[in-house]
Amino acid sequence: MANFLVIGGSGTTGRRITRRLRAAGLSVRTASRTRGDVPFDLGDPAGWAPALDGVTAAYLLEPELRAGVDHRARIPAFVADAVAAGVWRLVLLSAYGVGEAADGHPLKTAEQAVRDSGVGWTVLRPDWFAQNFSESFWLPAVLAGEVALPTGDGRTPFIDAEDIAEVAAAALTDDKHDGRTYQLTGPRTVGFGEAVELIGKAAGRTITYTDVDAEVLVRRWLANGVPEDVARLLAGLLVDVREGRGAVVSDGVDQALGRPARAFEDYVAAAAATGVWN
Ligand SMILES: NC(=O)c1ccc[n+]([C@@H]2O[C@H](COP(=O)([O-])OP(=O)(O)OC[C@H]3O[C@@H](n4cnc5c(N)ncnc54)[C@H](OP(=O)(O)O)[C@@H]3O)[C@@H](O)[C@H]2O)c1
Repeated sequence: MANFLVIGGSGTTGRRITRRLRAAGLSVRTASRTRGDVPFDLGDPAGWAPALDGVTAAYLLEPELRAGVDHRARIPAFVADAVAAGVWRLVLLSAYGVGEAADGHPLKTAEQAVRDSGVGWTVLRPDWFAQNFSESFWLPAVLAGEVALPTGDGRTPFIDAEDIAEVAAAALTDDKHDGRTYQLTGPRTVGFGEAVELIGKAAGRTITYTDVDAEVLVRRWLANGVPEDVARLLAGLLVDVREGRGAVVSDGVDQALGRPARAFEDYVAAAAATGVWN
């Protein structure tokens, strides 16, 4: 029996949320295809019931933005099943800019499902995670010593996943966040060149940042097995940063937690201390 369900509990945000809830003595079940307390696949509704058993509050995300996945249906279907199973609070991880996205955008549909659920809800719209440099997309490039992205001199207010998790854990446990949509960013914009320089200094290594044409990058990703729709989506979002259409600094962390967002420099120091870049 668990009161809290964390979908994607082994992922960047999910494992930090789980850690916080468990540290507070709360009963948490993580759910994912391969690494959860219960096996759970958003693509397989027949297997959802064991994950939802006894749960009153759930964290959910759409982990696979790619072709062949029925995004428009599965989060709404999961929300309906969760509410029918007795869940009375939902916290959805969305993304910065979804408010301006076209109707039919998978995360916009997911947001609407949560808002229409009839139970307490909170939507989180984070900017690019700082942890992409240490746990995800950009780590291999950092380790190879050259980060090449189509971001030019563009800047973005990277958000520390620790802040996302703290806001999510607060929203899962306190009804004062019900009905809120939080834009989550860091406290200032950081250029990719500056980010890489800070990481290089902290890691004691030379890491260069190179501006690259988006199409060149997409072809490189395709050669490395990244699905084409994912490659184009990510490249488009990075070009948005280059052209000044990316996120602006927002006070969402402060609104939710009553303190400023963590600085990128603090993220870099914490990540460097783990040895991930050595
Ligand atoms: N990275 C960024 O900069 C950024 C910025 C804004 C928004 N976001 C959003 O963040 C979300 C990803 O969150 P995250 O970074 O915390 O996760 P993550 O690190 O990408 O990990 C994904 C998690 O979901 C699980 N998962 C994958 N496919 C699944 C499926 N079909 N059914 C159930 N679980 C599945 C994975 O475990 P298994 O492999 O075991 O299933 C893992 O636990 C995406 O929706 C993305 O749009 C990311």
